[in-house]
Amino acid sequence: MKYRLFLAVVVFVLVPFLIVFRVSGTPTAPAPAPTPAVETSSSTSLRSLAQKRGFSIGAGVELAPLQNDPNYGSVLAREFNLLVPENAFKFDDLHPKRDRYDFRKLDRFFAFAKANNMLVRGSPLVWHYALPSWLNEGNFTRDELLAIMREHIQTLVSRYRGQVFAWDVVNEALNRDGSLKDTIWLRQIGPEYIDLAYRWTHEADPQARLFYSDYQNEELGRKADAMYTMVKGLLQRGVPIHGVGFQSHRGLKNPPDLESHAKNIKRFGELGVEVQFTELDIKIAEGTGSKEERLAAQARTYGDLLQVCLRAQNCSAFITWGFTDRYTWISGTTGELDAPLIFDKSYQPKPAYNTIKEVLNSGV
Ligand code: XIL
Repeated sequence: MKYRLFLAVVVFVLVPFLIVFRVSGTPTAPAPAPTPAVETSSSTSLRSLAQKRGFSIGAGVELAPLQNDPNYGSVLAREFNLLVPENAFKFDDLHPKRDRYDFRKLDRFFAFAKANNMLVRGSPLVWHYALPSWLNEGNFTRDELLAIMREHIQTLVSRYRGQVFAWDVVNEALNRDGSLKDTIWLRQIGPEYIDLAYRWTHEADPQARLFYSDYQNEELGRKADAMYTMVKGLLQRGVPIHGVGFQSHRGLKNPPDLESHAKNIKRFGELGVEVQFTELDIKIAEGTGSKEERLAAQARTYGDLLQVCLRAQNCSAFITWGFTDRYTWISGTTGELDAPLIFDKSYQPKPAYNTIKEVLNSGV
């Protein structure tokens, strides 16, 4: 009898315990599970209004608040139908040693997105920033760097094949004057690193939409022109590229030229290229007027940009970089955080949220 009891303890308690710890791979300090699925049926949420128009409304997101701050996950899943891990796709986070990848953070985002029926956007695959020192300081030859880039792309893209609907394959390759940015990729490989990155991503997931993303490329100008010429060249050479991303990090000091922005979007449409607003935030610290006036101006700009997107046939997603002022990568001039997003620090909707809702609800 005693022996049977011992056996039962081993089978029903000890074995599942050991399995759980082996699978999670973190025996010392298991991370809390990501926030589970939440009620998303609210008919007035941004996501339900967006869904009715077949449109994606998204946010860049961080893992720490998703695991530690219950409001974060519930507002995210209630309001958005798309998420972008804000840092977890970056080379240094994900590929800390040449022969080691760490997918734990990313896997948690994918579990959250699946549980809450959200699309995942991947960004970035090839960027000059957030590279690990083994790569920056490795003095690799051209062939070695090509092999590293190929392996990184193939490993990441094939692991999440079918789960990342769109990738920023190359990020921020252009200078303001339209020339190619002097990066490790350009220096060691030459300009063809761009073609190769798209071809290898496409090989690893032929269904994924492949984007080029940058900042200060929103309105017409030298950088936007260079991006247009680059994309046209890629298409002419048969390189698979499907979209461009306008990061849209903005501030009240420089209001957008909406007409110029619309023209820029339209010319990509004429090439058959999709566009998305990929990292939108609008700083208010440097604006003028009272806090209320600045929040109103911020709301108007969010609304104007969403209208520019919705009026264009080829604009498919509107993504803010974060969603609550509680967590934003933008710091203010006063030592406090700026307030660039659409929910305040207490998760209350700001005027910008209401304007976005009105625009989604309107006939635009
Ligand atoms: C930013 C993140 O938001 C920060 O948390 C991080 O410290 C630096 O990178 N362009 C991009 C994004 O393509 O990946 C950057 O994200 C912001 C600028």
